[in-house]
Amino acid sequence: MRSVSDVLGAIKAPPKECKAAYQAWLNIQTMTDKEKRAFLDKKNEEATQAALKEIMTPKTWGKSLWSGGKEVKFSFSDWNYSKQENQGLAKQVAIQAKTLSDQLKIDSFNVVLLGGAGVGKTSLAIAMITALRRTGKSAMVISTTELVSKLNRSYDFKDAQREIAKVEQGAYDCDVLLLDDLGTESGGRVKEIRTDMYDLMYRISNARTAKTTIITTNNTPAELGKIYSEKIVSRLLPKRKERCINMNGLKDVRGL
Ligand SMILES: Nc1ncnc2c1ncn2[C@@H]1O[C@H](COP(=O)(O)OP(=O)(O)O)[C@@H](O)[C@H]1O
Ligand SMILES: [Mg+2]
Repeated sequence: MRSVSDVLGAIKAPPKECKAAYQAWLNIQTMTDKEKRAFLDKKNEEATQAALKEIMTPKTWGKSLWSGGKEVKFSFSDWNYSKQENQGLAKQVAIQAKTLSDQLKIDSFNVVLLGGAGVGKTSLAIAMITALRRTGKSAMVISTTELVSKLNRSYDFKDAQREIAKVEQGAYDCDVLLLDDLGTESGGRVKEIRTDMYDLMYRISNARTAKTTIITTNNTPAELGKIYSEKIVSRLLPKRKERCINMNGLKDVRGL
């Protein structure tokens, strides 16, 4: 095997007229072996970061509709069990989410995170999505309450219509879709959702049969059935118990 020194030393000198390139070459010639290795490591790291950035910014991510317009950033390493009284449950749900996200790297299926407000549903869902994006999966987040406010605006404003069309296309295309806080858009009451939102969710749920959809909700599956119809809900919610992350029993830790 050739040493770092041999490899870098064998690079041909660029013409002296190309000042910057020539100076860079000169700098390498005067480096010790250790410096040359550090130089190569740095170049490698830069290339890895550039590739990662490209993977993490596919077209669909930019079409996301965030609650309050603010992107949520969260990784599994940010999950802190000690925020919860029931640390065993806090640990268990994080392990379940991590196991499912590992499986989703090579498979597609739906996952639901159930539980009250502030227990960490969105955070764990984003941790799953972040892990999947790092493997090159395209992803998108839709806050269902934001989507309903966009629908409200769309009757008067053309830009909102265009944005909804973009969101809908992204929801068809992405490998992993997060429908965040599904059910809350019905205004806190268990009643049939308005027709425009129903139609949109019907088309989205139909388009995603072979893909991964992650759902967070404060409602029970039965309540979601009343809000969105059994037909839509049976397409969106997973059948298998191990794909339902039940966070009931955890406390609201917002602001802690
Ligand atoms: N176990 C945890 N470790 C660290 N931060 C947490 C944890 N659980 C919740 N949080 C934080 O608490 C806030 C509420 O969590 P969030 O995921 O939005 O809850 P939910 O979606 O269930 O309403 C967020 O700022 C989140 O990052
Ligand atoms: Mg949430």
